[in-house]
Amino acid sequence: MLDEIKINHDADYCFTTRLSERGCVVGVGDGIAWIRGLPSARLDELIEFDDGSMGLVFQLGKTLIGAILLSQKHGVTAEMSVIHTGRRLEVGVGDSLIGRVIDPLGNPLDGLPAPEFREFRNLEAAAPLIIERDFVSEPLYTGSKIVDTLIPIGKGQRQLVIGDDGVGKSALTLDAVINQRNRNVLCVMVLIGLPRSSVAGTIEALREANALDYTVVVVAEANALSGFRYLAPFAGCAIAEHWMRVGRDTLIVYDDLTRHAQSYRELSLLLQRPPGREAYPGDIFYLHSRLLERSTVLAPEHGGGSMTALPIIETRQGELSAYIPTNLISITDGQIYFDSKLFDAGMLPAIDIGRSVSRIGGKAQHPAIKAASAHIRLEYLQFLDLELFARFGTKLESGVEEKLQRGRLLRALLKQDRLAALSEESHLAWLLAYSSGSLDRFSPEQAVALLPALFDAVAAHGLKLDTPKEQWFTILQVFFENAS
Ligand SMILES: Nc1ncnc2c1ncn2[C@@H]1O[C@H](COP(=O)(O)OP(=O)(O)OP(=O)(O)O)[C@@H](O)[C@H]1O
Ligand SMILES: [Mg+2]
Repeated sequence: MLDEIKINHDADYCFTTRLSERGCVVGVGDGIAWIRGLPSARLDELIEFDDGSMGLVFQLGKTLIGAILLSQKHGVTAEMSVIHTGRRLEVGVGDSLIGRVIDPLGNPLDGLPAPEFREFRNLEAAAPLIIERDFVSEPLYTGSKIVDTLIPIGKGQRQLVIGDDGVGKSALTLDAVINQRNRNVLCVMVLIGLPRSSVAGTIEALREANALDYTVVVVAEANALSGFRYLAPFAGCAIAEHWMRVGRDTLIVYDDLTRHAQSYRELSLLLQRPPGREAYPGDIFYLHSRLLERSTVLAPEHGGGSMTALPIIETRQGELSAYIPTNLISITDGQIYFDSKLFDAGMLPAIDIGRSVSRIGGKAQHPAIKAASAHIRLEYLQFLDLELFARFGTKLESGVEEKLQRGRLLRALLKQDRLAALSEESHLAWLLAYSSGSLDRFSPEQAVALLPALFDAVAAHGLKLDTPKEQWFTILQVFFENAS
């Protein structure tokens, strides 16, 4: 409709007419609005309602367009007029976000003044081009014994964390973030659809570990608008992407993408997109792949930064072949699989080593750790088979009992408490101690009790991963001679 006639007061006094579209809200509810009369609105475009609240175009129909509401205010009502802005949704990025807790639009949730931004980034952006990327070549240490030695992660890798509910997925990623202290890695934790108590618990854990000095938390709680839950990972990704583009190493945790997918499904169904498998819309694969493709390591001539992603997916009763888990498994570079049976048996962290894999992290692993852990995985899996077999009471061959004993020792060594991250040197110390057989004469409990002293000895002697093997073995030998 004709909105205003603008008189141009420039020197030549020519009259011009500006046509602008003004739409009208026909329905609003459940965090979405239906709008009529904005024929040239585009997907993902910001729209502004008369009361100042914003929305995001999500669905284009022949006569109506569907938009996601971007504010909790209940100001938007039917018949309200609305204009489109021609802008896309942006979030403020940069160092002023460090230590802050924000919502996906960059508004503070920690009670402090709004962060000041000098730069903004679109939430949706194209993934880096192939030629801008480099090979994953540097390890990212999580501090977890199992992950760093058997399922290593490299900077720029996308490693899925998958398992049933309550098996320690969030705990592992939180410990990984905490372990980045003094490692020059900026972290972004995206918390999607979590209850407020879990959000508070996570922030408190980060604060206690002084991890907020290098971390930003993006939160869309369980009771937030579904649009916020849908946008949160993209906001977190844009924030990390900025740092990656200026050459920093970053780690981003998406906790979790199952709830993200559910929010997207909710929005899609409300906005009448055709449902597909498990009622998810057809582009749900594209949603997660375009998000995770933005994590990479850039070539030195493009800044050399990296974004390592740890997306979390929750399964139902260990069902890996459900729609969202299979999608994510195929998008990522490997997965850390948590098993509820192991959790119930007290094997913590409850990582199923046989079903976990890292497709590229091994290339980034330090040669010393790689060599020392080369046989451990196979040895452990063989032990599990053997243990199962031995339970049937079959007559065991000679040598089997020793193998079982070593396996039990390894199982005890692989256990790890929360917030007990190990340094790289400590990883190498226990690997060498185990594979050289120095621990064989101890019971599993005794061996585990010896480890802290061993790690202290390694640190006291200043052993590093690059220290020659002979020197490592000399120190270990002296340590175990005195330990008996
Ligand atoms: N290595 C560990 N040692 C001791 N306790 C652990 C360990 N890992 C996890 N836990 C405990 O297990 C419980 C569940 O962990 P967590 O909340 O991380 O699981 P989750 O898989 O993220 O669950 P949800 O699906 O509900 O998000 C927590 O109480 C946590 O403290
Ligand atoms: Mg969790």
